Amino acid sequence: MKPYVISNVGMTLDGKLATIANDSRISGEEDLKRVHQIRKEVDGIMVGIGTVLKDDPRLTVHKIPAKKEDNPVRIVVDSKLRVPLNARVLNKDAKTIIATTEEINEEKEEKIKKLTEMGVEVIKVGKGKVDLRKLMEELYKRGIKKILLEGGGTLNWGMFKENLVDEVRVFIAPKIFGGKDAPTYVDGEGFKTVDECVKLELKNFYRMDDGIVLEFKVKK
Ligand SMILES: NC(=O)c1ccc[n+]([C@@H]2O[C@H](COP(=O)([O-])OP(=O)(O)OC[C@H]3O[C@@H](n4cnc5c(N)ncnc54)[C@H](OP(=O)(O)O)[C@@H]3O)[C@@H](O)[C@H]2O)c1
Repeated sequence: MKPYVISNVGMTLDGKLATIANDSRISGEEDLKRVHQIRKEVDGIMVGIGTVLKDDPRLTVHKIPAKKEDNPVRIVVDSKLRVPLNARVLNKDAKTIIATTEEINEEKEEKIKKLTEMGVEVIKVGKGKVDLRKLMEELYKRGIKKILLEGGGTLNWGMFKENLVDEVRVFIAPKIFGGKDAPTYVDGEGFKTVDECVKLELKNFYRMDDGIVLEFKVKK
């Protein structure tokens, strides 16, 4: 059994999550409230270590009225345990799980000890890279039945490739960032053929701020 996964993203019309200089101001106030409402409704919120290192997000519900109990469990996918001990995602506002690989050296052992002392749970799944399929099973066992996947593009690819995403919600801002090296919604290696690609079914769409929200179910 695995959690139900909603992938949400705010992107430009050309599918970028940030500019080449990592300026990621894409969503307006109303859209941020929409995202925080989803955060409030899920059990877990998941990002890759790239997003933690670049944006230092808190991943809590703070753009709409909320109590501490409304914060979902924060999950960071981090094979090499690069998460800084002062990262905001490790603060006391909510529980945090760091998913790493089974390979453990002395340095990693020491970091796990420090993280555990801070109340952070470390889950070890996979070799080389975090095994996302196994991670989903471990999270489900811990009562995490619904997850909001908040990126970035590399983790999104990993989750789509493993067919672990059930629903997609995107805010498209009327902006074009350009740049072949600017992060996109889904990066990674990409599918080679249309036959292999992820197929979606459009369920709903509406105007939001100066852009549009599209909601899809992933065809299984
Ligand atoms: N606009 C939005 O809605 C939005 C939301 C989130 C992020 N962003 C933007 O996205 C950018 C960050 O994206 P990113 O692609 O650099 O980083 P990311 O997707 O957040 O993190 C990727 C990292 O996760 C780790 N990982 C471990 N196991 C993995 C697996 N099985 N599959 C995939 N990744 C795995 C890898 O690092 P290790 O090998 O070290 O584990 C990988 O490099 C930032 O610019 C941020 O602003 C935008």
